[in-house]
Amino acid sequence: MSVTVALGLQWGDEGKAKIVDFLAKKFDYVARFQGGANAGHTVIVNNKKFVFHQVPSGILYPNKKVVIGNGVVLDPEILLEELKNLEQEGVKSSNLMISHLAHIVMPYHKILDQASESKSKNKKIGTTGKGIGPAYTDKVSRLGIRMEDLLSKDILAEKVKANLKIKNFLLKKYYGLSGLKAEKLVEQYTKIGKILKPFITDISVELNQALKKNKSILAEGAQGSLLDIDFGTYPYVTSSNTISGNCSTGLGISPFAIKDVVGIMKAYLTRVGEGPFPSELFNKDGKKMAEKGNEFGATTGRPRRCGWVDMPALEYTTRLNGVTKLAVMKVDVLDEFKIVAAVDKYKNIASFSEIVNKKVKMELKKFPGWMSSSEQITKFTDIPKRQLALLKYFSNKLHTPIDILSFGPDRKNTLFNLAKYFK
Ligand code: GDP
Ligand code: IMO
Ligand code: MG
Repeated sequence: MSVTVALGLQWGDEGKAKIVDFLAKKFDYVARFQGGANAGHTVIVNNKKFVFHQVPSGILYPNKKVVIGNGVVLDPEILLEELKNLEQEGVKSSNLMISHLAHIVMPYHKILDQASESKSKNKKIGTTGKGIGPAYTDKVSRLGIRMEDLLSKDILAEKVKANLKIKNFLLKKYYGLSGLKAEKLVEQYTKIGKILKPFITDISVELNQALKKNKSILAEGAQGSLLDIDFGTYPYVTSSNTISGNCSTGLGISPFAIKDVVGIMKAYLTRVGEGPFPSELFNKDGKKMAEKGNEFGATTGRPRRCGWVDMPALEYTTRLNGVTKLAVMKVDVLDEFKIVAAVDKYKNIASFSEIVNKKVKMELKKFPGWMSSSEQITKFTDIPKRQLALLKYFSNKLHTPIDILSFGPDRKNTLFNLAKYFK
């Protein structure tokens, strides 16, 4: 069988977890391939809310295997907390697998991330403070500590000491903070290694064998394509490749195994943290989106900036990811807008990738709002004509069928298998 990637086409928080949870029932595996606890993935089932940072959103199904790939930077403290909370809710974690090659987010990564943000007041990225940048920096600098290192106290001690020589220098001399003690960290992370040992495995072997046996894998993206380290609004990005190409590297599977890419987008647009956002709204429309959409970060609680959907940005990310199907989320948030708008084109730049260094001039396309509740929509023919006009515009502009529509946070507020209507 094959791999389906479900990922965000905007600046994150598109509603990926809802779609992953929704699609997961048809898959054997759900796997995360990048990012870390910077993710905040909300799933609502029967009015119960689960927010995942580290664990893949498929964990709620007892018969699915859930995988944390080598491309993820894993924070064991957050993972253990999440597993404990899930257990209290009756959700078992025995089906979790963690790559032996996944890099660990250490306490010094989090301290350095937060210190760097507070020191660079003028060039703040607005990170989640979860140590993601410093952990990926260590991975690339070949200083990183990986999951398998937690299983040998000697190897761990050697690596922690080597790291602390540099980190403590930075913490004390550059940031004026206190340093960390190697012995304490080695003790703590050896203990964590013992607890996590049953989950650690070669997930590349596992997934390749699964594919041979005709099993199916759903790969869950974190963040969004506009936050990609290469293609996003650099430097206002996260520290991993968030696009579909990284699914192969982050799980150790062939790119040929990927058959479908579900591109997840909101019917409007949000962003948390700093960086350009050409269609950001500072008026009552922006406020209305934030209120109706409950736009507060699931990881940091920060208010999300809101604006109109940006079609040139979506054309760019649909292309980058090779999106085969679209999932359009939070359509209900626009129910009470007399006019709904979308950025139709940029007038002074050729591609989205130029938006960081240039002030964008854009052309908006306006649609009359449908002004009725989407809550009652249970089939395609229930969709109001005016709403359908907007959806057709999305699909035509992106040359990609909409397969899923979402009208609320719960599993039940979803229409699927719609691609035939958008061909
Ligand atoms: P993710 O990071 O992409 O998984 O998204 P988040 O969980 O951070 O944010 C999406 C928020 O929107 C969550 O609170 C979801 O429960 C909620 N949500 C998802 N789909 C819909 C929808 O169609 N309508 C509304 N109103 N809320 C939704
Ligand atoms: P999910 O998976 C929205 C943003 C941060 C900041 C930038 C860099 O829930 O969609 P980082 O901590 O990664 O170094 O921060 O990226 N960011 C997200 N924004 N959703 C996310 O994840 C994000 N993860 C990181 O706000 O602007
Ligand atoms: Mg989120």
